[in-house]
Amino acid sequence: MRHLLSTKDMSRDDAITLLDIAEDMADVADREVKKLPTLRGKTVVNLFFEDSTRTRISFEAAAKRLSADVINFSAKGSSVSKGESLKDTAQTLAAMGADAVVIRHPASGAPHVLAESGWIDAGIINAGDGMHEHPTQALLDAFTIRRRLHQGGARGKGLDGVTVTIVGDILHSRVARSNVWLLTTLGAHVTFVAPPTLLPMDLTGWPAEVGFDLDAAIDSGPDVVMMLRIQLERMNAAFFPNSREYSRRWGLDDERFARLAPTSIVMHPGPMNRGLEISSAAADSAGSTVREQVANGVSVRMAALYLLLSGDREDS
Ligand code: NCD
Repeated sequence: MRHLLSTKDMSRDDAITLLDIAEDMADVADREVKKLPTLRGKTVVNLFFEDSTRTRISFEAAAKRLSADVINFSAKGSSVSKGESLKDTAQTLAAMGADAVVIRHPASGAPHVLAESGWIDAGIINAGDGMHEHPTQALLDAFTIRRRLHQGGARGKGLDGVTVTIVGDILHSRVARSNVWLLTTLGAHVTFVAPPTLLPMDLTGWPAEVGFDLDAAIDSGPDVVMMLRIQLERMNAAFFPNSREYSRRWGLDDERFARLAPTSIVMHPGPMNRGLEISSAAADSAGSTVREQVANGVSVRMAALYLLLSGDREDS
């Protein structure tokens, strides 16, 4: 694998291979010494043009567990025009010998530009580009679902027949966009449930069903309910009347959570707006995978870095 930019063009075999390697990486996390020498001498740069807590520290932990050197570059607040600043930054990183660049950027397509520009000959990982994609989040979500559903032996398996309902701010969500492709490729059935104002205008070609009634969706008994954060920072208008109205109609509150089957799992990529899209009882329940998702994120990102960097890049 040269870059990890999107899940849209990822094959089922490639996805399963990555998830299987992540299982091996998770075994390392259970050891007393959580470190492998695999990427010794390699340099990974975390290039974050947008806020992040868990994704950035997750990539940092992943790179360090593989013994790579890590440079964190927080570029937020830069006022230089985007194309130019990205080019200058990339050339600086190239001069410093970066082997992989993990980039989060508010502009959709920025990681692709970096990968195709020729400014830098490093493996590029998309850690979230605007409202477009967030492939490692989808991979860690798939990994989490697979582990929960195939307890004690997930290796080699997909998510065939698994029903996943993704609820909330689909419009602004790169998590939903990366998940819809990956989960479908792995054999799952995806349904979006959202207010019409928080769905993209044109869903033609998206492999998802659409519903507007969260109660009906809950009663249909999905295996997975994935709640999304209301992304107020991406909203420049009123997409719903007020937060009370939103949580009444679209939130996973205590009453709806109680109606879910005990075997259903509740997911959220974080950060959560507790009391808005998800209640604390749901978020902290045994069925919730919120903290598992964070832990699994490190294993999945180790697998991604391994696939990008352990081969001989000169050949590719
Ligand atoms: C997501 C993101 O940044 O896209 N968070 C994350 O990576 N853990 C989702 C969000 O911000 O709501």
